[in-house]
Amino acid sequence: MNFRTILNHNTVQEKYIDETKQGEAYAIAEKPENTKKLFLESYGCQMNFSDSEIVASILNNEGYNTTLNVEEADLILLNTCSIREKAEQTVRMRLSQFKKQKENNPGLTVGVLGCMAERLKSKFLEEEHLVDLVVGPDAYRDLPNLLKETEGGSDAINVILSKEETYADISPVRLGGNGVTAFVTITRGCDNMCTFCVVPFTRGRERSRDPHSILAECKELWENGYKEITLLGQNVDSYLWYGGGPKKDFAKATDLQKATAVDFAHLLEMVAKEVPGMRIRFATSNPQDMSLDVFRMMAKYDNICKYVHLPVQSGSNNMLKAMNRQHTREEYLELIQEAKKLVPEIAFSQDMITGFCGETEEDHQDTLSLMKEVEYDYGYMFAYSERPGTPAHKRMEDNVPPEVKQRRLAEIIKLQGELSRKRMSSYVGRNHEILIEGTSKKNENQWKGRNSQNAVCVFDKEEGQKVGDIVTVFVYDNTQGTLLGKKADIVSV
Ligand code: SAH
Ligand code: F3S
Repeated sequence: MNFRTILNHNTVQEKYIDETKQGEAYAIAEKPENTKKLFLESYGCQMNFSDSEIVASILNNEGYNTTLNVEEADLILLNTCSIREKAEQTVRMRLSQFKKQKENNPGLTVGVLGCMAERLKSKFLEEEHLVDLVVGPDAYRDLPNLLKETEGGSDAINVILSKEETYADISPVRLGGNGVTAFVTITRGCDNMCTFCVVPFTRGRERSRDPHSILAECKELWENGYKEITLLGQNVDSYLWYGGGPKKDFAKATDLQKATAVDFAHLLEMVAKEVPGMRIRFATSNPQDMSLDVFRMMAKYDNICKYVHLPVQSGSNNMLKAMNRQHTREEYLELIQEAKKLVPEIAFSQDMITGFCGETEEDHQDTLSLMKEVEYDYGYMFAYSERPGTPAHKRMEDNVPPEVKQRRLAEIIKLQGELSRKRMSSYVGRNHEILIEGTSKKNENQWKGRNSQNAVCVFDKEEGQKVGDIVTVFVYDNTQGTLLGKKADIVSV
């Protein structure tokens, strides 16, 4: 998923993404002896937010505490997103706002991290004079050295992608969270090469993190009061640990490594057993890598939430092929059917792209019909945005007129709205287990939280309840995106 909105650990999910919105900056109390101030703002997907927690951890050991006040910063870092053109424009706009501050304070260092850093490399330093530091997603360990270079007055850059880096040993500083939900990164990079997507170029080859370090992080989170974790990766179902190294080198692994390899379903079971009280979610899944074993684990363990974000991008076989997605519409629908059989209460969400190269009206109708068939709880929908260097950019023509892309986008958003309302209403009239994540934005006398299916629920606060409690709530009504709950008469657990 690609949405800073879900990432706001403690806010209600917004279902449609506004990429023109400013990123999230977080600050926490850190080492009292630190004297320098870091303003760190994140854009884009959950992985960026999770990476920012690693960056904050590295810089915390280098004398920096985070601040929410950009004016007092010695170091400004933007962790950026390249997924669509708009996301990049937003970062450029944001950078221009630091111009004055930089002129007034020549000692201020401005750095760009993440996918735009990786995509643009030294071009960034040429194009944006205000930028002193460019660091790609696999080079954060080098930040202390790079900062020494900038302190000496020169620009610094490291955009080397790694085949091994997983930051497994770095304990992330939990930024701006609610103390209840957290992300745990399990894979980095992506080898899938969907033709529209820039991620394989900005995040490099796919590699999995050592399961022992994952389990240790989950346990530590539990001991620190966390109640829900989301296992993160561009493509979590492709997780494969065989002792380190890129997934594509698995064929070269020794017999012993192959025999003791851990796949995603296996990892999920290990985590579910290690922290039995913890709610477990994961994102993002790619249908081509999803095995039925994952659904079997969901059915077997109560603490694995009954919700899967399963992007399909299009309902048309022609488009799926052009996008280099490794499955057909029929295979996708079969997977959904099987999942519903194994986990009857399961909920799905989607990502869709409208107006990809060559998309016809018929292809678009296929998308609408697939959505109706699956009945997604919600979705993230985008007009195709051509990205330089991707296979689609090199080999195909971005030939659907912008107004057609937008009209189709509006149609799928409208349909998803109807489906969401229908799905939300299916939760009405019964009790749900809700993890309290915080106070409702709209009403301070109400809590907000989510059920296992990831549907947001608001309900009146009761004496004795607190953030982090899992409570039984009776859902009596719904809006398009929210369940309205009240005290359950009969507590089912
Ligand atoms: N596997 C990744 C996908 C990252 S991109 C994950 O963690 O979610 C997130 C979504 O952005 C994709 O599923 C796709 O729907 C959308 N997207 C990617 N490239 C795009 C492009 N060039 N134009 C429009 N949308 C795009
Ligand atoms: Fe992008 Fe496809 Fe990977 S959408 S992140 S190339 S699974």
